[in-house]
Amino acid sequence: MSHLETKWIKDLEHTWNEEAIRQAGQIIRDGGLVAFPTETVYGLGGDALNPDSSRKIYAAKGRPSDNPLIVHICRLEDLPKVAAEIPENARKLAEKFWPGPLTMIFKKTDLVPKETTGGLDTVAVRFPDHKVALAFIDAAGGFVAAPSANTSGRPSPTLGKYVYEDMNGKIEMLLDGGQVGIGVESTIVDVTGEKPMILRPGYVTYEMMQEILPELLQDPTMFSVSGNAKPKAPGMKYKHYAPKGELTIISGQADHVRKRLQQEVDKKRAQGYKVGVIAAGEDGSAYQADSVKVTGNRDDLAQIAKDLFRMLREFDDEGMDFMYTESFSDKGIGQAVMNRLLKAAGHKIIDADQEETDDSNRQ
Ligand code: TXA
Ligand code: MG
Repeated sequence: MSHLETKWIKDLEHTWNEEAIRQAGQIIRDGGLVAFPTETVYGLGGDALNPDSSRKIYAAKGRPSDNPLIVHICRLEDLPKVAAEIPENARKLAEKFWPGPLTMIFKKTDLVPKETTGGLDTVAVRFPDHKVALAFIDAAGGFVAAPSANTSGRPSPTLGKYVYEDMNGKIEMLLDGGQVGIGVESTIVDVTGEKPMILRPGYVTYEMMQEILPELLQDPTMFSVSGNAKPKAPGMKYKHYAPKGELTIISGQADHVRKRLQQEVDKKRAQGYKVGVIAAGEDGSAYQADSVKVTGNRDDLAQIAKDLFRMLREFDDEGMDFMYTESFSDKGIGQAVMNRLLKAAGHKIIDADQEETDDSNRQ
């Protein structure tokens, strides 16, 4: 892959830059790649209707090309150009949640190349709620294919500098709009089946959608620890958001968690490892480790979502060998938080309410 000069346009959250957005749009029309902010995470954008652009996206991310991309639009009227059928359920969801952090899966039209959909007959479509994203998509011609702007396997970028870290030299431009608002990727709902089904949890929760879609289902593989069932969103089967060190979740009653987590940290540090901790606000001073990241209070799940990927990236930068995190509620947006944490931890979870049976401690 040839090395590109990546133009980093900063400060878009404070300063509107019409010229940069026009240039970014032109790059996409010419078949190039531009990373851009959305309300969830940064996207790595290319022309969704150009098969070569999609190939370039897979190459820049180092992503398997059977993992389909999300097509981003900037107005509802454009939906029928990429979605062959728009079921009633989709109309209801769009009315309530678009623009916003919700992606829907439709039967695709012939306009959408198979390179963009990873060979599938369906297409994922999202109408983001972000001023820079919308202006950019419009300038780019209206259909921007974009996965999250991280190297495949790394945490999704929530800040421009993380996009630069992963994508410098691989894309033509980075539109930097500062820290994103939500911090975990959009909720994905498949509306092609008889009953709609959540394939990936996100900011728009099951409870929020269930109000208007009583028949809403959830892909059972979203939370399963193992099992042979294959997730319906191809990307969900990959090990994602993996920090370089090893992450373990400690669950259970708060006082048990504090005690057990610190014990685990002490064991690893005694062996000479660098150890990081993620703690809820209430437990900010409860731990001693090489790096302690304090996020929102337990009931402030939106703040925890916003901090999550940044904390994992910081641990990478700090060279942590092992990391331990408290477990959080899986209600509301907590469902998305725990889904991402479980993936980052490769499903390693310790129940602090159980007596420890680890041999190393039975002396
Ligand atoms: O918030 C977001 O959705 C961000 C921003 C940039 O919009 N994008 C994002 O894209 O998270 P990505 O590529 O990292 O995740 C897209 C997910 C993958 O798990 C993929 O397999 C699934 O959507 N997906 C895409 N098209 C699909 C389809 N036709 N059927 C089922 N799953 C699909
Ligand atoms: Mg991703």
